[in-house]
Amino acid sequence: MNPFRFGRAVSGDDFADRRNEIETIIRDLKGGQNVLIHSPRRYGKTSLIKVVFNRLSTEGYPTAYMDLYKVFSKKRFIEMYSALIFSAVESRMEEVGRLIREYLPRPKITLTPEEYPMPFSIEVSASLPKREEDQLFQEILEAPQKLAEKRRKRFHIAFDEFQEISRLDGYEVESVMRSIFQHHDKVSYAFLGSRRRLLQEIFSDRGRPFYKSCKSIPLEAIPENDFADFLVSRFRNGAINIPRSVVSRILKVTACHPYYTQQLCHEVWNTAYPLGRKLPDQEWVTIINRAVEGVIAANRYAYEEIYDGLAESQRKLAHALSTEPTRNIYSTEYIRRFNLRSAPNVAKALHALQEKELVEKTEQRYRISDIFFAQWLTKTE
Ligand SMILES: Nc1ncnc2c1ncn2[C@@H]1O[C@H](COP(=O)(O)OP(=O)(O)OP(=O)(O)O)[C@@H](O)[C@H]1O
Ligand SMILES: [Mg+2]
Repeated sequence: MNPFRFGRAVSGDDFADRRNEIETIIRDLKGGQNVLIHSPRRYGKTSLIKVVFNRLSTEGYPTAYMDLYKVFSKKRFIEMYSALIFSAVESRMEEVGRLIREYLPRPKITLTPEEYPMPFSIEVSASLPKREEDQLFQEILEAPQKLAEKRRKRFHIAFDEFQEISRLDGYEVESVMRSIFQHHDKVSYAFLGSRRRLLQEIFSDRGRPFYKSCKSIPLEAIPENDFADFLVSRFRNGAINIPRSVVSRILKVTACHPYYTQQLCHEVWNTAYPLGRKLPDQEWVTIINRAVEGVIAANRYAYEEIYDGLAESQRKLAHALSTEPTRNIYSTEYIRRFNLRSAPNVAKALHALQEKELVEKTEQRYRISDIFFAQWLTKTE
């Protein structure tokens, strides 16, 4: 079976390294330090926090992981959050019912037994007046601290895709959350997200409630040596002996980006496996090239759709960045060489491409986020 996984959070044998990050985050959270974990798309934030929370729960801490991407209203937030919070401390239905009566002493909440992924679901009546809904929202935000005090065990909570919070109710939700969380000395919060600009606005704008409330932890690519060890061992697990030099070549192509590395290795394995166990070096070069082509071919329709959705100036800038990532995106020379017209024109196109998460800035350089999309672009003129 192909030993490489991509597309959803990974754990166990599929999860490489991140030892330092794991230790740091665990230490921070246990010490009551709230953290903001951020990176460009698909660097492994979700996987990382899940691994961290798994460890914390085996140590006996209650943990709740909530993805705000799926939360489209305050009512939905209350339903999902309360189900997560209560299931973190209790799985017996009668006990959950008792907790709800104690912590959310309001009518109009229905508890229904479920099988997967949680033992029950919670539904707030749609006819609840706004004032009562706001009250309920505050009560459920308070619940983890009270539970932690009562059980004498720190509660750990993660909000993934936290930038989505601003969709709920403007600054009001943010401000209620912040004013409640700041008194929670028995709960640690991890906030995660990839939309850096939006997150930055939430956590670095003086006027916003969460201003400077967290330790910022930027997630980088996985260190090359550790990643190489991991890949060699995964290939071996898939019955392939791959020379370390070939793995280094793969990591050059992907710049150690977790998702793209797994994606490319998945394809490399598919190509190499039928050829047998031991292959000459020259053969590996061909295999890697074919695998890159394979990944690009598999994504062709998606790339075309993205490209179709770009305005002319955005396409030009995307082509420029795919050929040459740059620190000096506004330099006259860059603008002239790639025919980008003017600096304000570049600024506008750049903003649009960043909004679409197609371009990101790493190590001070602007570049196309998806390395395979970048390669596809260089072939489309
Ligand atoms: N530590 C790791 N070891 C190996 N592969 C990893 C690791 N972290 C992430 N990956 C790879 O990257 C993919 C994306 O991981 P994950 O969903 O955790 O990233 P994310 O940063 O949360 O992404 P998004 O920005 O889309 O929310 C995984 O499916 C896996 O292929
Ligand atoms: Mg994620």
